[in-house]
Amino acid sequence: MINGGIPLKGTVEISGAKNSAVAILPAALLADTPSTIDNLPEINDIELLSKMIEYLGGKTIKKEHEIIIDPEGINSFCPPHELASQMRASYYLIGALLSRFNEAAIAMPGGCNIGVRPIDQHIKGFEALGAKTTIEHGIIKVKADKLVGNHIYFDVVSVGATINLMLAACKAEGTTILENCAKEPHVVDVANFLNAMGANIKGAGTDMIKIVGVDKLHGCKHTVIPDQIEAGTYMVAAAATHGDVTIKGIIPKHLESIIAKMSEMGVIIEEYDEDLKVTTAGRLKRVDIKTQPYPGFPTDMQQLMAVLLALADGVSMITENVYEGRFKYLDELKKMGVNAKVEGRTAVIEGVEKITGAPLKATDLRAGAAMIIAGLAANGVTEVKNIYHIDRGYEAIEKKLQKLGADIKRVK
Ligand code: EPZ
Repeated sequence: MINGGIPLKGTVEISGAKNSAVAILPAALLADTPSTIDNLPEINDIELLSKMIEYLGGKTIKKEHEIIIDPEGINSFCPPHELASQMRASYYLIGALLSRFNEAAIAMPGGCNIGVRPIDQHIKGFEALGAKTTIEHGIIKVKADKLVGNHIYFDVVSVGATINLMLAACKAEGTTILENCAKEPHVVDVANFLNAMGANIKGAGTDMIKIVGVDKLHGCKHTVIPDQIEAGTYMVAAAATHGDVTIKGIIPKHLESIIAKMSEMGVIIEEYDEDLKVTTAGRLKRVDIKTQPYPGFPTDMQQLMAVLLALADGVSMITENVYEGRFKYLDELKKMGVNAKVEGRTAVIEGVEKITGAPLKATDLRAGAAMIIAGLAANGVTEVKNIYHIDRGYEAIEKKLQKLGADIKRVK
């Protein structure tokens, strides 16, 4: 429940990056000895992955923002389907278990309902390394006599496929070249983790990654990078409520496209080494947004930015180039008086002076966060249902917002 209209003030600490952490936990299964991963976000996807790792025979010791994973006892390549099908990132267990056992059987991934989200590029890569894949009863089965390095050219830029093939190739025989790779900060973070375990991966963060297979990997200690999308979420919350918020523990480089676009709207962003200070000076201006793979404007910020555009002066256009179904949330926001029209991959949003609180249903992770921000900026009370979507990817979102002065509470 949110009572809107209060400018957010104060500081917020950013947690570890969800989309890095959900790849690093499966990556830890490639080693023969334990790894310690800290700056881990306290989110449900991590809990789910830890459960799957225990089910596979691994041991996990969970502390606040930290986990120790001992992969020694791993004795299965098939996590429980009802757990794997609840999240998208369970597909990283395919690359990890294929690398460890030359075999994996994982339920087709779940995750946010923002488009078809095929995994054909992952499968194309596994087959290039010598694996056979079949899909039966919703389960992906991948099996290889042995994995041999190859030259793989991705047809689309895919974060998941890029990371999954790094996992599958780092102990393959010989060299693997991945081309047309995703360059997101979490791709680099996972490559750094694998190299700390003894892998030989060069070029992560560019569109070509070279992996020279090694025989064994050992555990290591790793600190997950800060979550640039969580940081962007609090930047939008600060701007939407015309507050004064300092966002702590970020890597400004990872936020460049978000900082540039919000500055274009008139948001005032002061950059420090690891912090940003966000304020506004009056009503924001309309802009156009085109989502692209990193370093372009991130698709995960599209839904959040729509709330700022909905209140800006003028008509804005959002073109969603990554997913074909990521505008559903606008139907919910229209209940608050948001003026938006969707034509295929483009949304046209005409700014209004104010929006009013309404009962809303979160449709996916970032849509849920956008609805909370809209509630913070609206006049009156907003109720957001299905907040399990939000808890999958945001640590203690209502507590962090309460600390900034928001009138928000979780009710049964
Ligand atoms: C990751 O999803 C993130 N999820 C998404 O974040 C994020 O939106 C996306 O990357 C893009 O940055 C996790 O990391 C768990 P993709 P992923 O493969 O890996 C198509 C969030 O809010 N594609 O880069 O699934 C695909 O359909 C979530 O945190 C294929 O066609 O994204 C999409 O149109 C939402 N074939 C595009 O590529 C494939 O084999 C980008 O997908 C794979 C992808």
